[in-house]
Amino acid sequence: MTLFSRALRGLTASLALFLLPFAAAAQSGPTEQIERINGAAVAPQPLRTDNAVLLIGTDFGLMRAGPDGMASVLPDIKLAVTGLAGDINRAGRIFLSGVDAQSRPAPLMLSEDGGASWLPVSATPLAVRSLSVMPGNPDALAAVAGGIVTSRDGGKTWAAIPNSPEKVFSVARSSLSENDLYAATMGGLLLSGDGGESWRPAHESDKPATAVTVLPGGKVLAYIFGVGLVGAQEPELEWQVLEDGFADRYILSLAADPLDPDTIYAIMDTAAIMMSRNGGRDWISYEGSDKFTPERLARGEQLFEGTCAACHGAKGVGEAPGNPEARDEFGFKAPALNDDMHAWHHSDAALKATISQGSPRNPRMVAFSERMPEEDIEAIIVYLKSLWSLRSLACQGARHGRC
Ligand code: HEC
Repeated sequence: MTLFSRALRGLTASLALFLLPFAAAAQSGPTEQIERINGAAVAPQPLRTDNAVLLIGTDFGLMRAGPDGMASVLPDIKLAVTGLAGDINRAGRIFLSGVDAQSRPAPLMLSEDGGASWLPVSATPLAVRSLSVMPGNPDALAAVAGGIVTSRDGGKTWAAIPNSPEKVFSVARSSLSENDLYAATMGGLLLSGDGGESWRPAHESDKPATAVTVLPGGKVLAYIFGVGLVGAQEPELEWQVLEDGFADRYILSLAADPLDPDTIYAIMDTAAIMMSRNGGRDWISYEGSDKFTPERLARGEQLFEGTCAACHGAKGVGEAPGNPEARDEFGFKAPALNDDMHAWHHSDAALKATISQGSPRNPRMVAFSERMPEEDIEAIIVYLKSLWSLRSLACQGARHGRC
């Protein structure tokens, strides 16, 4: 429970808004170093290259994050991004909200071309987070600006709803009507059927709900702390737990690919990006997802069990796992590479470097770049990551310091 209560304190902190240290200096770098992501949208062509490319809103501006674990700033948007969301109805239509270097809100921005160019759309400056576009009606928007605000004209004008719940993390327009709204709040997932006049629980749990989104066809996804990622179909809302492996970590925003709404990205509280290709049932980390195929996973397992398990143990349990005192002639043992030790403190790139170059302090861990092609080392990393819990994946690399 202590882990949960610590994470809950972090949860309250993530409600604090717009104190963003805008630092355009960092132009590109590994995604593991980004401490906070304030929204995500899937970019179509031409920004999309080999694989899906994600736009992420950060304190440093709008960034393009690739499945190779690298991110770079798109220099046109000179704002700290507080909210970013794609229109699920139309690929490439993306809304962005942000504040300038003096923390002054800018007008809401809209791109119709996947983030290549942007135009202001709101009549007045407005900084919001958790932007949401109604499935089936691209003019009906909702967002959080302290309380919940909505727009009926594609973001030109906005009004506060009559009765906003307190401590709202995330808001989503329902697919049913313009009057239906979900709010993920500290007090649970709530639903209004009257444009925000009154609210009732949408899910039986009163634990904090941290993210909610509605997909075309009325599929609702929400993250409920301590319950997991839940999904249900409108209007019945018979909830199913899709994934409860994130443990004390939580999803802060969800973004689906308009070209394939079963491909869903989750932005974690640790700023890790997770990815599901089957509507939220199975998750991998976006970092390295370009390498993830069932064939590579099988190949990685075969290589690991054939080459590495002699020292690191079957399924990466480590050398002599039952004997903590055991040491080799150099004073080490081959560490566990599953969840038991700290293999997940390393990014994919760091793992690749160790496996390729070997250990400078232990000649038993040889440089495998001389013994196997790069592709095989990458397949082994795919396999190693499959041994980790989702919590560890959400805390991988530099993020482990925030877990
Ligand atoms: C002959 C024994 C041996 C074999 C075979 C071996 N390793 Fe290692 N490995 C070690 C030892 C010992 C260490 C600890 C090195 C150190 O502490 O400096 C290590 C360290 C590592 C680490 C760093 C772990 C960490 O948490 O810092 C990784 C990753 C790793 N090995 C991966 C592999 C992979 C992948 C293979 C197979 C391709 C492999 N090893 C094969 C002995 C071995």
